[in-house]
Amino acid sequence: MAKHEVFQFETLEELKSKILQLNVNMALSEDVSSLAKPVKVGNRTAPNAIAILPMEGCDSELDGSPSELVERRYTRLASGGAGLIWWEACAVVNEGRANSLQMMLTNKNIGKFSKLIKAVNKKAEEEKGDRPVHVLQLTHSGRYSRPEGHTPQPLIPQHDPILDPRVGIEEDAPVLSDSYLESLVEQYVHSAKLAIEAGFDGVDIKACHRYLLSELLASHTREGKYGGSFENRSRLLKEIIIEIHKALGAGPIIASRFNVFDAHPYPYGFGQDKEDFMVFDPTEPMQLVRMICDNGVNLLSNSAGNPYYIYPQVTRPFDKSSMGIPVPEEHPLESIARLFDFTRKIQKEAGDIPVVGNGYTWLRQFLPYAGAANLEDGSCRFVGLGRASFAYPDAPRDILRGNGMDSKKCCIACSKCTQIMRDHGRTGCVIRDSKVYAPLFKEYRAAAEARESANTKRKE
Ligand SMILES: Cc1cc2nc3c(=O)[nH]c(=O)nc-3n(C[C@H](O)[C@H](O)[C@H](O)COP(=O)(O)O)c2cc1C
Ligand code: SF4
Repeated sequence: MAKHEVFQFETLEELKSKILQLNVNMALSEDVSSLAKPVKVGNRTAPNAIAILPMEGCDSELDGSPSELVERRYTRLASGGAGLIWWEACAVVNEGRANSLQMMLTNKNIGKFSKLIKAVNKKAEEEKGDRPVHVLQLTHSGRYSRPEGHTPQPLIPQHDPILDPRVGIEEDAPVLSDSYLESLVEQYVHSAKLAIEAGFDGVDIKACHRYLLSELLASHTREGKYGGSFENRSRLLKEIIIEIHKALGAGPIIASRFNVFDAHPYPYGFGQDKEDFMVFDPTEPMQLVRMICDNGVNLLSNSAGNPYYIYPQVTRPFDKSSMGIPVPEEHPLESIARLFDFTRKIQKEAGDIPVVGNGYTWLRQFLPYAGAANLEDGSCRFVGLGRASFAYPDAPRDILRGNGMDSKKCCIACSKCTQIMRDHGRTGCVIRDSKVYAPLFKEYRAAAEARESANTKRKE
């Protein structure tokens, strides 16, 4: 692995020469026309191959319905011209919310979601004559549940000696029962039906970033029907997919965003070598892809890592980390190449089922060239933008019009949006959307520091 460096490329040639020097597997294509081609997903067609990845703003209303900030975010994204908008994490039960303002779709607030989807589509049609495909991400935050206030209320499928102390879990704390896990199937189905009724084209059963379904995939030490063997660890995800498929029929999109690689030691992680947790072992991830596709999933997005732990570069390569995170022992281009490689392998296994690739944002104005190369050689069917969409929501429009991306609007991978999340605030781009988010960043940082110092005094 090479030394970590911040982004410093003025020209495509400089980027190319760094790629060569590091010998990473990353192609660049200056012909970006592949990004403009429509992509079939189930029986829908996305008007182009640029996808917005789920990016949680932690800014819904207390009842989970869209706030003004949520409306603003999705309206900006829709007018930005992406072909697929993969909406952020939306909790299926209140106790599984990652924060008190996490999105949640209920019988009571469905009307507000329908209204927003209609407004967003109208905006997209006015701007470019077509509308994006909308997928809603359904989640249960498991270990990272914090449905109210600032105190974690973790719901764990297994104990983990590395992660337990980080959210104050005692050694004898109970793990979630099989009957609680079984009861979630109905909750996922209920949320999926509401999402389709509200106007979404499909739902994603989220199994990434070590939230509940993701940690279950790694629950080697759990006893009973949801732990131990691969069949058991993937059982709940499979049951949810099957029941959603039965309930929704063949029309809507059923997607899954899942962790391919946890970068977390065995027996607590998924997708890595038992001896070296930084080495990928594709055996079970490929089994997982076959299982979910065989059971009716028709759109995939792979991710990796645990954004709450000390290797967040595995999920999102960065220049600067959020507080308390060490400088990674690898170059961001190596982290990106690893994400591209995962997508390539998953797309190969998934055949005709489209996979949304990720890890592009750090490449800034050069990301369309990497995306186009990956589309051209079949490494993915969509190029997904995460932080780039917070910073530069109309990037797809600039790319598709052939104008290229404006370097002054690009995300600089500074992790300030993540820092807001860690400080329990409503998040967005602190740098490129600074009027809204720079004051919020300061406010939440100050509040978090005050909480930390009160906690330290209490302990003394
Ligand atoms: C502030 C923030 C919020 C995020 N919210 C979600 C989310 O709700 N669901 C999800 O699957 N991933 C979420 N992610 C991860 C992104 O979708 C994406 O995988 C990651 O940022 C890497 O892509 P990028 O390099 O384009 O940013 C979030 C990331 C950030 C920084
Ligand atoms: S705050 Fe803005 S520039 Fe910084 S990482 Fe987040 S989206 Fe990118």
